[in-house]
This record gives sequence, structure tokens and C-alpha cells, in this order.
Amino acid sequence: MARILLLLPGDGIGPEVMAEARRVAEALGLADLVIDEAPFGGAAIDRFGRPLAPEVKERALAADAVLMGAVGGPQWTDQPFDRRPEAGLLELRQAMGVFANLRPARLLPALIDRAPLKAEIVEGLDLLVVRELVGGIYFGEPRGIDRLPSGERVGLNTQRYSEGEIRRVARVAFTLARCRRGRVTSVDKANVMESGRLWRETVDALGRTEFPDVALEHQLADSCAMELVRRPTRFDVILTDNLFGDLLSDLAGQLTGSLGLLPSAALGEAGRPGLYEPIHGSAPDIAGRGIANPCAAVLSLALALRHSLDAPAAADRVERAVERALEKGARTPDLGGSLTTRAMGDAILEELGRA
Ligand code: NAD
Ligand code: IPM
Ligand code: MN
Repeated sequence: MARILLLLPGDGIGPEVMAEARRVAEALGLADLVIDEAPFGGAAIDRFGRPLAPEVKERALAADAVLMGAVGGPQWTDQPFDRRPEAGLLELRQAMGVFANLRPARLLPALIDRAPLKAEIVEGLDLLVVRELVGGIYFGEPRGIDRLPSGERVGLNTQRYSEGEIRRVARVAFTLARCRRGRVTSVDKANVMESGRLWRETVDALGRTEFPDVALEHQLADSCAMELVRRPTRFDVILTDNLFGDLLSDLAGQLTGSLGLLPSAALGEAGRPGLYEPIHGSAPDIAGRGIANPCAAVLSLALALRHSLDAPAAADRVERAVERALEKGARTPDLGGSLTTRAMGDAILEELGRA
């Protein structure tokens, strides 16, 4: 049966890194893989006046996997708030119901010299952030910018989580921990926020009843940020909410040498399409120069092959090809090298041919 992979290149470096991911996908020669593409983000605002056209949303929901590049950029910051590129991404995540965002951060031995921390602190780093992706303060109501009777304006967002929303993402984190080192660190602000108190109680009860074999600890979000810099190798799976997960995954990601290496998978209920994206953004500071690192996009393709496209062997091949290219010294400028995006793609394709 044909599997559909929908590419949404988006903005800035998005199309540049996605071109390499497409070349890798095509080189795999998977007979039943259909690769489709659609405008999204700022690029879609310019064409259709909105970041996520209804027709594109339909195609995403009908695909098996969606691979997104990046959205956003200075050209679109003056758009109405609900029409900015980032709003299109949030709408897509919610429409697809992808509540569990897997953001792995693993330091490759070959890149230890690129890590911003001392080798003895980051050596062996291999953690997974499981970020809740379709709830919390990103989506909670009420929200908006209101005017007080005095005329002063007030900005408002609401952090809100139900027990069911907490349990379903926590279940994903516990289940994945079983295939890793069996340890979950649940991160919240239970000392300050009621939603954090409920998060902690709910995760704790689930751990005790359904996952007694997984070691569970709770940590406050500020302390987790500190520990990620002080002793990052002690983490296995970090389970956290939408906002803390956004912050902590950038932090954890950069520990591996560059945001340009970090893929992510966003998953919903079994059988629904997954959404795959690099964790980096559109990088307006380097967009258009052909020097962005395509590894995160290519590794996101690997996650799509594994989790949504029923092609785990192809996923392994792609990951091995990226690792070998890096081991052999292929480096874009963010990793201290001078390869262009295309040349880095070539290096990955060359290894793929050997794998
Ligand atoms: P960013 O991730 O785009 O860039 C941060 C830094 O990392 C920049 O110096 C950039 O050059 C570098 N970088 C990022 N990806 C790289 C790559 N593949 N290769 C080499 N260097 C890379 O974050 P930002 O500058 O804060 O945000 C820019 C825009 O992207 C904003 O509009 C933001 O909303 C959007 N954004 C989108 C996504 C997404 O689409 N998933 C994620 C984050 C930010
Ligand atoms: C990410 C990004 C997005 C987020 C933005 C672009 C909506 O920062 O995927 O990490 O905040 O979730
Ligand atoms: Mn982010």
C-alpha cells in the first residue's frame, strides 16, 4: 500500500534543508513511498494570505507523515497574531492531534569538540525530551490582549492541563523509557503553579500504577535547566509541558554541538499521521546563503520512516549515513566546517550509498 509523505518546506532555511531531506528520501528507492509537497508558513501567507490553507490541512491529515522544515521570519512579524507563520504551525499540530513531541539529544563522539561544555560533562549525553505539544499555555483560554478600564493594555495566556492530557503524554514517556535506561524525570513548577501540582500528582499516580518498573523522579523546571548544564548525562527521559519543553529542548539540543542536528517527532493516537520537524527555526540570520545544516531535517525524515512510514530499516540507514558523514569530518559552518547545505547532503548521500 502506498505511503504518503507530505513535505512542508516553509520559510528561511526550511526549503534549503528540506531539499536535502527530499534527495535522501528519493535515494532510498522505497517503491511505495509517495512524496508530496505543499506551501506552508510565511510562504503560504504570501500566496494565499494565510499560513495553513484548509486544503493543505486536509492533505496533512490524509498523509501518513508530514515533514516540516521551519516557519517564521522578520517579513511576517507584522501579520495579525492569528495569521503569523507560527500560528499555522500551532494550528497544524492541534489539527493533527500530535500531543507527544519526542526531541532526542544525543552527543556523537565525533562532535565532542563542538559541544559548548567540557568533554567530561557531556561525554555520553543521550537524553530524550518528551514535550506535551497541543495543550498548556500555548493553547489555554482565556487568552489575548485586553484593555483595562484605565485604558492600559494587559496580555493574557492561560496554563491549563486536564488529567487526561497529562496522562496520555506521560504514558508515551514511560513507555519509551522502558526501551531506554528506564528513568523518567518529570519536570514542572509544582511549587508555584496549580497546573504543576496536578501534573506532578497525575504523573506520580500513573507511574505507580502502570509503570512501577520505571524509575520516576520529579524536578522543578528551573532546577532541571541548571542540571542540564551541570550534569546532563544523568537524564534519560525528560517529561514536561509545552512551554518548559520548548525551552529545555533547545538547551539540551545545543549541548550536542548545534541546533542544526536535532530532529523531532510529534505523535498522536496510534494510526494517526505523525508530524516531523527539526527543532530549529527558520534561522533568518543565515537564510538564503546555502550554509544551513541539513542534518536535523534528514534525521527528522528518519524518525518519520521509523514511526509513521513503516520503514524502520530505511530509518536506520539514514541515521547511520548522517553519523558516518559526521564521523568522516563533513561539517557545515555551525559545526566549524565550511560545507554548503548541498555538499553536506552529498556527503550523507554518499554514505547512504554504502550503507
Ligand atoms: P532559530 O532556531 O531559527 O535560530 C537560532 C540560531 O541557530 C541562529 O543563529 C541560527 O542561525 C542557528 N541555526 C538554527 N538552525 C540551524 C541550522 N540548521 N544550521 C545552522 N544553524 C542553525 O531560532 P530564532 O532565530 O529564535 O527564530 C527564527 C524564526 O524561526 C522565528 O520566526 C521563530 O518563530 C521561528 N521558529 C520556528 C520553528 C519551527 O518552525 N519549528 C522553531 C523555532 C523557531
Ligand atoms: C519549536 C518552535 C515553535 C514552538 C514555534 C515556532 C511555534 O519554537 O517547535 O520549538 O514554540 O513550539
Ligand atoms: Mn522552540
